[in-house]
Amino acid sequence: MKSHSRIRFAFILMLFVSSVYAQNTIIPIETASNAFVLEVNAEKSVNIIYAGEKLADRREYEAVPGIYRQTEDYTEVLNAAYTSSGSQNLVEPAIAVTHADGNNSLDLRYVSHTVKTLQENIVLYTVLLKDPVYPFTVQLFYKVYQQEDVIEQWSVISHQEKGNVTLHKFASANLHLKSKAFWLTQYHGDWAKEMQPEESRITHGIKTLDSKLGTRANLFQPSVFMVSLDKPAEEEAGTVLYGAMEWSGNFRIDLELDYQDNLRILAGMNNYASAYTLKPKEEFVTPAFVFLLSQHGKGDASRKMHQWARNYKILDGNGNRLTLLNNWEATYFDFNESKLFQLLKDTKNLGVDLFLLDDGWFANKYPRNGDTAGLGDWEVNRTKLPNGISSLVKEADKNNVKFGIWIEPEMVNPKSELYEKHPEWVVKQPKRDEHYFRNQLVLDLTNPSVQDFVFKVVDDLFKENPSLAYIKWDCNAVIYNAHSSYLKDQSHFYIDYVKGLYSVLQRIRARYPKVPMMLCSGGGGRVDYAALAYFTEFWPSDNTDPLERIYMQWEYSHFYPAISVSNHVTEWGKQPLKFRVDVAMMGKLGFDIVVHDLAEKDLAFCKLAIENYNRIKPIVWQGELYRLADPKKESIASLMYVGKDQASAIIFNYLVNNRYGEGSKFPVKLKGLDPSKLYTVKELNIYPGAESRIDAAKVYSGDFLMKVGFNPQVNNRRTSVILQVDQKSGK
Ligand code: DGJ
Repeated sequence: MKSHSRIRFAFILMLFVSSVYAQNTIIPIETASNAFVLEVNAEKSVNIIYAGEKLADRREYEAVPGIYRQTEDYTEVLNAAYTSSGSQNLVEPAIAVTHADGNNSLDLRYVSHTVKTLQENIVLYTVLLKDPVYPFTVQLFYKVYQQEDVIEQWSVISHQEKGNVTLHKFASANLHLKSKAFWLTQYHGDWAKEMQPEESRITHGIKTLDSKLGTRANLFQPSVFMVSLDKPAEEEAGTVLYGAMEWSGNFRIDLELDYQDNLRILAGMNNYASAYTLKPKEEFVTPAFVFLLSQHGKGDASRKMHQWARNYKILDGNGNRLTLLNNWEATYFDFNESKLFQLLKDTKNLGVDLFLLDDGWFANKYPRNGDTAGLGDWEVNRTKLPNGISSLVKEADKNNVKFGIWIEPEMVNPKSELYEKHPEWVVKQPKRDEHYFRNQLVLDLTNPSVQDFVFKVVDDLFKENPSLAYIKWDCNAVIYNAHSSYLKDQSHFYIDYVKGLYSVLQRIRARYPKVPMMLCSGGGGRVDYAALAYFTEFWPSDNTDPLERIYMQWEYSHFYPAISVSNHVTEWGKQPLKFRVDVAMMGKLGFDIVVHDLAEKDLAFCKLAIENYNRIKPIVWQGELYRLADPKKESIASLMYVGKDQASAIIFNYLVNNRYGEGSKFPVKLKGLDPSKLYTVKELNIYPGAESRIDAAKVYSGDFLMKVGFNPQVNNRRTSVILQVDQKSGK
């Protein structure tokens, strides 16, 4: 080709290309730092063309696809915003259906989209998709929390076909990421071993994180994860995506590295045994999947997640919390009124806000004297507590402390009056042997009568004891033999169970909007951000060995702010009381020990620590978290909470390696301070008779503390050190 005709050809090509692009609609979903950009192409397919740092000029997003030279996409929908199945797609779908006429194909094309500011900082994007052949629609929702860089994504599925449609898969979110490599941080666990991290490079094919447990669904695998792009993200560096399903039941997250080397993430409720029949005009609303992207490492991602959680998600996320004394490990099931009266005095003496009466206070025909009987019979046990709960509440009032109570209202022991009266309320297979988890079965919350019953358990407690100040809501069984005698369609069971639970919780919160409630599941088997809309805090693990807790709390701290993490001081572990208390203070502090057995110095220390805690808790609960020294990599763990105006900070330091000579050999570099301010550093929680090695009078600049660092002097004689950093007055 001659040069002038080559130029002409290029010009015509350019015109052609730009006219094709001109047909494309670009939908940039932007947060303060990032953009997830959708493109509607000429065929009206909606694809994800960009997920990364926001560009200065929005018009440039449309140029993004053109600069990649990956292999051909034979399907043309590998990067679909919501991948359907049965048409040209060849990879894991977000949605799969059987239409009313028995046909299995689905094709989703763009109809319209909207952008609406809901309130300051929150913008809702919706995209309506429709099948060109069937009257079947999916609406995609992206709720953007701009400053926090957080996006919640979900979908609403509906149709107007002549009969029912079966949904076989129904993801909440469908992401598409481009990077040279991807690294997944996932978690696994079991009772007392929650939140064990694993990091691995994602290889081609599909990696699925899921649960099929029904209740306490996160026990073996929580629904939170991280994906690092290019290389494993570090605390202060690297690009990382945090993801979490907001769903308290079976979930499924597929991470598919496709043949083009891009990562597709499909997250939603688990479709395992859950094909869902959708009637014409009915809406199937999926729960939200929340995600955020940071270009500045895990620390930045956590701080943004915490801010989002406190401001928008956790019940009363910026409010107060109650310190407490729990009697579970102090008495187990063996208590009576006079023992509890003594514990109420201990509560007062210790200086915490509330006494929490745990399991064992109820049931008469089959008294709850162990975990084999009584669950479900929520009337007070007359032998242990002849004067009822109200007498305990009165005694609490007298002692000027608050009173809270444990319940596990979704569960039943086969040895209970409830089971005898309502065997049809129990989840079990009619023709099979029962199978128990902690000697108990799950009540069928798909049944509105059971929902009423569970609501009434809570409502009656409040009606009879209006000053009841706290509920610990436990849940100790998974679902075996999933079957409901109420439901016609058994494959709706797992989903309708969770909807039933949420409906009860909504009713409770409509009547008792602010009473603090702890989400407990023999540990963290249930925590997720849908549940935390109803709960003020959660119980991360029954394992309160402080050494174990340092690791566990470290991992939880990626996703959940300290204000929501209940930490109790117990007899677990070999560490001294000071170490146990210091670890529990990195969250919402409680005690579960026999207070009147404490040695004089131990009691004095606990009282001092509670006073300190009451002073520093606004910083721990509302401050910015910086994880300074990683116990998985170093001999010490160090975590720092910086108060709002950088005027004060608290640093928790622990020895995690007991080998000879280990400790804080190097200074720990502090973070989040103002380099131009002057600070003093003092030690808190000094055990009676001990002397601090920290010179509280010495003044350091923020610059020094962040560049050179500070040595907490952790060693085998000082295994746990809490420091308070204060801006020097006048500067
Ligand atoms: C499991 C919880 O994690 C414990 O704290 C305690 O409440 C027991 N259940 C009571 O059965």
